[in-house]
Amino acid sequence: MRVLGIETSCDETGLAVYDSEHGLLAQRLHSQIALHRDYGGVVPELASRDHVRYLLPLLEELLAECGVERPDAVAYTRGPGLAGALMVGAMTGRALAYAWQVPALGIHHLEGHLLMPLMGDASVELPFLCLLVSGGHTQLLRVSALGHYELLGESIDDAVGEAFDKVAKMLGLDYPGGPAVAHWATRGNDRAYDFPQPMLDRPGLDFSFSGLKTAVRKVIEEVERSPQRDADICASFERAVVQTLVRKCQRAVAATGLSTLVLAGGVAANARLRRELAACKDWRVVYPPTALCTDNGAMIAYAGCLRLLRGQADALGLSLRPRWPLVELS
Ligand code: KG4
Ligand code: ZN
Repeated sequence: MRVLGIETSCDETGLAVYDSEHGLLAQRLHSQIALHRDYGGVVPELASRDHVRYLLPLLEELLAECGVERPDAVAYTRGPGLAGALMVGAMTGRALAYAWQVPALGIHHLEGHLLMPLMGDASVELPFLCLLVSGGHTQLLRVSALGHYELLGESIDDAVGEAFDKVAKMLGLDYPGGPAVAHWATRGNDRAYDFPQPMLDRPGLDFSFSGLKTAVRKVIEEVERSPQRDADICASFERAVVQTLVRKCQRAVAATGLSTLVLAGGVAANARLRRELAACKDWRVVYPPTALCTDNGAMIAYAGCLRLLRGQADALGLSLRPRWPLVELS
């Protein structure tokens, strides 16, 4: 089975063809980073227009590269995401499915992220624990089967990626913030500032990052800024975030008895987080290749393929879900 995946939920136009026998055949990705940089964040209207501009030309290139004329199904991101951006991918995907007379499938963006690490690693056994860390979500999930996701804990305020992005903005670093903070952190002293490690003093698996963000803001306002101090702030902030995530994962492992930890979402690209999770003896950690942590078409094609093999095919008039809690899939 060969499935075309289309991802347009935010600021990446992603397309890929996944083959159930041969794996990922080819993919195309157009990032809108340059388009939104001057605004310091994603401008929804501009995002939609850019998806309109790039989607079909990228599709032509993609199909030519993998020599596929007519995939067996088309999977597109149904939500969550920006409504206008989702519409571009959904309507294009359904029109293609209609023209090719193949099934169309509406995929949950976060399911795409959390299944991604399994694409190249057939040895991952269910159930597993998933730490899903992106620009909009920070969640610990128990994954017991495809579509069966139990929420164990989540952020009660900012998502981790959002905290990275906001700290970058306070420091005037490049957009998007996560990679910029991580880059600066490599040159800093991570013990320079003793930032709070949120929610570790309380039981449970929920997260909170707004207090940490406020602590960083206070330091930025109080110190005399210099490139070295900025690097120190980034390194100390990153250390606080990573240690919090690691400790929460340890708690989740202790509470569930699960021993496989799957790391997914854009922040899974963070080198320190990958390193520290891998160094921990409490679990076997599995993560996607760095390039496939942030939004892409491959994750939608892969999730679409798994669902197609399970017999899913959605109506061409299926409603979109710009807000769509992952647990509602179960
Ligand atoms: O999953 P994703 O591409 O989009 C959402 O679904 O949100 O995640 C994007 C988020 C952004 O907040 C970005 O700053 C963060 O992932 N990010 C990182 C790194 N690379 C991307 N955060 C920390 N370190 C990184 N290396
Ligand atoms: Zn995402």
